[in-house]
Amino acid sequence: MSSISDQAKRRRTFAIISHPDAGKTTLTEKLLLFGGAIQLAGTVKGRKAARHATSDWMTMEKERGISVTSSVMQFPYKDAMVNLLDTPGHEDFSEDTYRTLTAVDSALMVIDVAKGVEQRTIKLMDVCRLRTTPIFTFINKLDREGRDAIDLMDEVEEVLKIKCAPITWPIGMGKRFKGVYHIEQDKVFLYQGGDASKKQAVTVIDSLDNPQLDEALGSQVDELREEIELVQGASHGFDKEAYLRGELSPVFFGSAINNFGVQELLDYFVEHAPPPQPRETTTRSVDPTEEKLTGFVFKIQANMDPQHRDRIAFFRVCSGSYTRGMKMRHVRIGRDVQVANAMTFLASDRGHVEEAFPGDIIGLHNHGTIRIGDTFTQGEALKYTGVPNFAPELFRRAVLKDPLRMKALQKGLEQLSEEGATQLFRPLRNNDLILGAVGVLQFEVVAQRLKDEYKVECAFENISVATARWIDCDDPKTLEKFREKAYDNLAIDQAGELVYIAPTRVNLELAIERHPDVRFLATREI
Ligand code: G4P
Repeated sequence: MSSISDQAKRRRTFAIISHPDAGKTTLTEKLLLFGGAIQLAGTVKGRKAARHATSDWMTMEKERGISVTSSVMQFPYKDAMVNLLDTPGHEDFSEDTYRTLTAVDSALMVIDVAKGVEQRTIKLMDVCRLRTTPIFTFINKLDREGRDAIDLMDEVEEVLKIKCAPITWPIGMGKRFKGVYHIEQDKVFLYQGGDASKKQAVTVIDSLDNPQLDEALGSQVDELREEIELVQGASHGFDKEAYLRGELSPVFFGSAINNFGVQELLDYFVEHAPPPQPRETTTRSVDPTEEKLTGFVFKIQANMDPQHRDRIAFFRVCSGSYTRGMKMRHVRIGRDVQVANAMTFLASDRGHVEEAFPGDIIGLHNHGTIRIGDTFTQGEALKYTGVPNFAPELFRRAVLKDPLRMKALQKGLEQLSEEGATQLFRPLRNNDLILGAVGVLQFEVVAQRLKDEYKVECAFENISVATARWIDCDDPKTLEKFREKAYDNLAIDQAGELVYIAPTRVNLELAIERHPDVRFLATREI
């Protein structure tokens, strides 16, 4: 077995970020195809249809099913081991996306050539910036007419505040799209089309001055040469340090659906994207090459296998190595647990993991003791920081149809909230169960799952809560006073933290004004 440091160096753990419809699903599939993880493209696609009919539980369940198994896709490529973490497409699941971004070492941004930078891309980029995540850019759908490539790069630079370094450059667009010029390698890749569910043949011509190119491109060749001269004069070259600092993004062009530009992207990605880096904990920075295992849980999801109605906790290994059957310390509850049957996500063969290294994700079976943000180690009481919890924007009260099912309802709401998509609040002044979420869809999902998995029928009714803030205060006396004064608007969340639930935004503003020594936090690190 090679050393932990050798294994860590090989890892490339990343997520794709994009506005819906830019081509994330298609590109994911093509990366798997080029990575040799699937033989024929077309397998991941079923979920596309599911996404549009989001109010239909069955299709959602199906979609979730697919996204459990494809939540993490691992495949070897050249000398690297690639871990691609999927992020949900639907906006109502955006918290899940933000937390997944805490578990990656870099990201790949997909932009539609006709649409340019879209609203969701901007938001996701902001999240990446919180941890200065290095970003690759893929401009997709060059087989269609779109915007001028230089204009697009200007837009990315201006709107997303990141410098662009084109690595490939498109030859034509729409019907005239012939291939890409690899600026760094001085090579032209000409695509021939054909069955895009497999890798097709590509003609490679060395050097832009090659007479072969005149023959292949005809009148388009002068256009290309002129454009490249312009681009080379006006754009940034690839500066690896600036890329790693999140200040510059290498840019690729192509058409995911036709496989064009994907190989060039993947090759450059495994060469330059960062392996796992040191990570912060409450006590110290942990280096991936340390011998002892540490890591944290960034996501919890119901297992779709009806035989095993348990939940899977997605655990990112940050240092050391996991071996089957080892004991891990569950730091929050201070107990050692034996992990015999963690799940692996090797895209071509999903089964039990024997070993995992920094950058890898393993799935731990969770029977209710693991929460998002939990750290596991080999004994040391450290805790990873930076996994966010966001204040929900929608609130509903759970109303039970059969009052005798109260216990089951509580259990169901608690367990479903552990998955992180919804949050449960209990007001200090009564026994209400208030559920908070970022999207309406969450309530439908919870109601349906309560019925299916906990045999509880319940409805969610509107209540007058506009927003919530976690309460923090250094002085216990001030906190006690605040607790008395604001008693009617205070609740406890599922982690036992104090939360202010404001009936209106104005009420929140007044409360903040009146209690200057109390902090009202819109996000909480778990
Ligand atoms: P998403 O996950 O980012 O939401 O995007 P997805 O891959 O599902 O792609 C969105 C749509 O764009 C799909 O079409 C897909 O086929 C198409 N697409 C992806 N890459 C390319 C490309 O390189 N060129 C062109 N022309 N289209 C591309 P759809 O009609 O919405 O769905 P489908 O019926 O094709 O599945």
